[in-house]
Parts: sequence; structure tokens; C-alpha cells
Amino acid sequence: MTSVFLNGEFMPMAEAKISPMDRGFLFGDGIYEVIPSYAGRCVGFLPHMQRMQEGLQAIGMPLPMDVTAFKIVIDRLISDNGSGNLGVYIHVSRGTDTKRNHAFPLNIPQTVFAFTFAIPTEPVADKSEVKGYKVISAQDLRWKRCQVKSTSLLGNVMHYQQGQNAGVNETILYNAQGFLTEASACNVFVVKDNLILTPPLDNQLLPGITRLMLIDILKHDNKLKFVERAVHMDEVKAADEIWLTSSSKEIAPVIELDGQPVGDGKVGDMWLAVQALFSLYKYNY
Ligand code: PDD
Repeated sequence: MTSVFLNGEFMPMAEAKISPMDRGFLFGDGIYEVIPSYAGRCVGFLPHMQRMQEGLQAIGMPLPMDVTAFKIVIDRLISDNGSGNLGVYIHVSRGTDTKRNHAFPLNIPQTVFAFTFAIPTEPVADKSEVKGYKVISAQDLRWKRCQVKSTSLLGNVMHYQQGQNAGVNETILYNAQGFLTEASACNVFVVKDNLILTPPLDNQLLPGITRLMLIDILKHDNKLKFVERAVHMDEVKAADEIWLTSSSKEIAPVIELDGQPVGDGKVGDMWLAVQALFSLYKYNY
């Protein structure tokens, strides 16, 4: 049985209960994080915590316990759950009120929930092992605060389901002007003529930790050409390679967009190079 953490206590998942008056349940009023961990080692623990702090601040909530306390909780959950390939989910809501009222309640404790779940084995830079993703594209119909990792994920869920209904793995999103934002649960990179491109951070996309780490690794390595700039969907459609990045996928190659092959329809050489770099340096974060 999965061991979870809820409001200061460790317990079996079946014993973890919260009130239906919790604002996370009623309003999606909360912030979450997902941190990957392999054999007991987290990838990107500090940047994930930093993003959580920024998200909480953006919605007017304090960090419910300090980063060291979070690390102790996460290490214990990882060890209690077998220290294998685990995603660590952390969720902080504004807490349980006595009435349903949109206004922020005063002086109620936040709800803090964390659990682990099994994730696939560590991605490796190997064309014969990696899964090639198929995606569709759609206009981004989410809200205008996509930089906040909010538990209100209905917009993302709807876009993810669009992909499922079309028989593919993800939905790549573009804004009203036809520029790439991100995907429903990943950031997006494209490659054209060996130049790697990704949209700059703003309110239209989540500041992904995998994105942050990959950009930092590319800048330090300084061998591959990389630019952060607005990317039009015409460029996405004409790209040699497209990648999805997220904590559990790392860098996932896309082989089909809207029923058309991406480049030659095979996993590309630039993907191989960047996944190899990512695998080499990811534990430095
Ligand atoms: N999804 N963009 C969106 C909308 C996301 O939901 C995610 C992550 C990312 C990638 O962020 P990161 O590299 O920090 O994982 C980008 C998580 C994993 C989820 O909701 O399960």
C-alpha cells in the first residue's frame, strides 16, 4: 500500500482523507509539483521547490513548511515506497473552510498532501528504446496565467483529452496569433537546420523545470545552437525535429504532427545528442 503524507502525518493512501469543503476540491485553489526520483535521487529538487514558492506567492499563499522540511518528507516517502522509479506529487491548497466563499479565508491552515507514484525507468539516449510521440495541434483555450502551476487543470485536461480522442499522445497548443505556447502537459522545443528553438517564458506557458535544465545544459555545453524566441506554427509544421519536455519524459521525440511525419518521421540525431547531455548532467540540479 502506498504511503502518503497529509497535513503533517504519514499514512497509508486509504487512510488519507480531506473534507469536501477543502478549497482545492471546491475551487482548484492550490499549487502542485511533480518531481521525478530514481533509486532515491530526485532530479531538480531545488528548482521544483523554487517554482512551487513562486506559484504560491503568485496566488497569495505562503510556503506551508520550509524547503528542508519538504525534503525530509519527500525522502521519507521515497524510502517508504521502495526507492524505485517514482514521481513525487506535492499539493498545497488554501485549506478547508466552513463555508463556500470565493474570498480567501483568514487564518485557516493550508492542506499539504504528497504521494509517490510509479514512473517509467530513467529515459536513455537510445533511438531503439525511445518512444516516438504522436501529437495533434489545437488552439490554446486555457486561461491567461499558465505560468502558475495551479491545481485547476481543467483547461489542460480538456486539451490532453483532445489528443486522446484523436488517438495520439499529446496536444501541442498555439495562441490566437498562431504562435506555439506549449503542450497540455509538456513544454515544446523544435529543431530546424540544427537550430534548437523554444518559446520564451510568459503567461502562456509553464516554466518547466526540464525546460530550464535543458536550456542551462545547452548554454554550458555551448556546442549546439539554441535560441529562445516566438515560434510560429508554420515553423513547427516545417521542423526537422519536435521534442516534448517534462519531468517524467525528460526529452521526448515527436514523430508525427497532425497525421504528418515530423522531418523524416524518425527519431532525430539532435534528440539523441540532447538526451545524452541531459542524462549526463541532470543530477547536478
Ligand atoms: N506536467 N507544461 C505543462 C502544462 C505541464 O503540466 C508540465 C508538467 C510541463 C513540464 O514541466 P516540468 O518539466 O517541470 O515537468 C509543461 C506535470 C509533470 C504534470 O502535470 O503531471
